[in-house]
Amino acid sequence: MRLFKQLLVVFAALGVLAAALMTFSYDVIKIDWIVFMEIQDSFDDQEKPLAVPAQSIPVDGAAYLPGMGEPVNPVPADEASIARGAQLYQIHCAMCHGDNGQGNGTVAAFLVKKKPANLTSEAVQAKSDGSWFLTISYGIWNPSNTLFPEVQFSGQMPPLAENLTIRERWDIVNYLRTLKAAE
Ligand code: HEC
Repeated sequence: MRLFKQLLVVFAALGVLAAALMTFSYDVIKIDWIVFMEIQDSFDDQEKPLAVPAQSIPVDGAAYLPGMGEPVNPVPADEASIARGAQLYQIHCAMCHGDNGQGNGTVAAFLVKKKPANLTSEAVQAKSDGSWFLTISYGIWNPSNTLFPEVQFSGQMPPLAENLTIRERWDIVNYLRTLKAAE
């Protein structure tokens, strides 16, 4: 009988100890451990992406290197490129810039702060291929934005880099050049 009582006490003590430990393992009492995943340079859901590291090259080629100035158009403006550019323009740009690039797309009426640029205008056509490429990639520049130190987005024209591959962006650039000729 005495042995039984002693065992009971031992098991009770073990039980209490186990229960106390369980409160930690099941997060009843939460201890905020520092996890290395949390303190490294990374960004959380819905956060803006980190700025591109200086002199780094994207996996699909050096589309644009921060600090290296405007890129040079590597895609010859042949028939295939222009035809592809025209199709992509209708999909990605025409709703704002209009079917013929005159800045009168269906969405243009809803853009009150800044109207889409007339892409056939002298002012826009005077800009370089590289400048257009950056506009398509990063949207319209805004010096007060710190997302990309030099290529910046003010919300007037969205960055379309995610929707268009590098090659596709140059195809559109080649197509835009033909808009001047059509004028
Ligand atoms: C949501 C509407 C919208 C879409 C889509 C859009 N743009 Fe724009 N774009 C604008 C607006 C608005 C401006 C004028 C912004 C300003 O003046 O600040 C602009 C300006 C421009 C400019 C002039 C940039 C400059 O330096 O003056 C070019 C070139 C241009 N867009 C090309 C394109 C191309 C090419 C596409 C498709 C790949 C496209 N845009 C898609 C709204 C749009």
